[in-house]
Amino acid sequence: MTMPPDLAVIGGTGLYQLADLQDVETRQPGTPYGAPSGPVRIGTLAGHRVAFLARHGEGHSVPPHKVNYRANLAALQAVGATRVLALNTVGGITGRFGPRVLACPDQLIDYTWGRISTLCEEPGNEVLHVDFGDPYTPSLRARVIAAAQAAGVVLVDGGCYGATQGPRLETRAEIARMRRDGCDLVGMTGMPEAALARELRLEYACLAIVANWAAGAGPDPDEVITLEDVLANVAAASAGVPAIVGGVLAG
Ligand code: HPA
Repeated sequence: MTMPPDLAVIGGTGLYQLADLQDVETRQPGTPYGAPSGPVRIGTLAGHRVAFLARHGEGHSVPPHKVNYRANLAALQAVGATRVLALNTVGGITGRFGPRVLACPDQLIDYTWGRISTLCEEPGNEVLHVDFGDPYTPSLRARVIAAAQAAGVVLVDGGCYGATQGPRLETRAEIARMRRDGCDLVGMTGMPEAALARELRLEYACLAIVANWAAGAGPDPDEVITLEDVLANVAAASAGVPAIVGGVLAG
């Protein structure tokens, strides 16, 4: 019997594997909700077992609105994970959240639509009205923040994540509205993942990687967002991620 992982990590755009994983074992768990985006890879990092799943598939073939969020989380639970650290590539809206910043948001606003956002729809599943006042598990957030501090990786503690439908990026007016609503970050994959994790009673926190200024939010209001810039910024900012994951595991 293999040991259950101490932590599961879901990788986002530009993060299709976890650097430094050793002794990797690959699992393809079935779930009541269908197939996850790809295999779950379980390996050793900093002396602990960690499970990794690429949210969009290992070849980035699944767009944000088509991700089977239920299957992904159920697959991680099936391999024994109880804590999930979600890596989300995002755009920055407010001043502290410029490109290449790492952040651990503490709030979210859901602007997505038409996604299956609960487990309750399955026949036989209990109807749950889960508490979601704090959408991210405070104790896991605290571990992420402490791990970043211990590793000397700069991380913004807090912020509000606005989850949009995608796959297109937002208009300037949409970002201006999100700023008025109180959003600091914008991404396409934060929901329903966080709510489903709560329904599954998984601890869940988000490590957001700012890839770009959201539309009209940066110093050059006419800037056009390119995939090249997004991937270069994610690659640069991701350098600190293994140390944070290692610290969360060790904490
Ligand atoms: N908007 C939405 N999602 C994103 C962005 C953005 O600007 N950048 C990376 N993911």
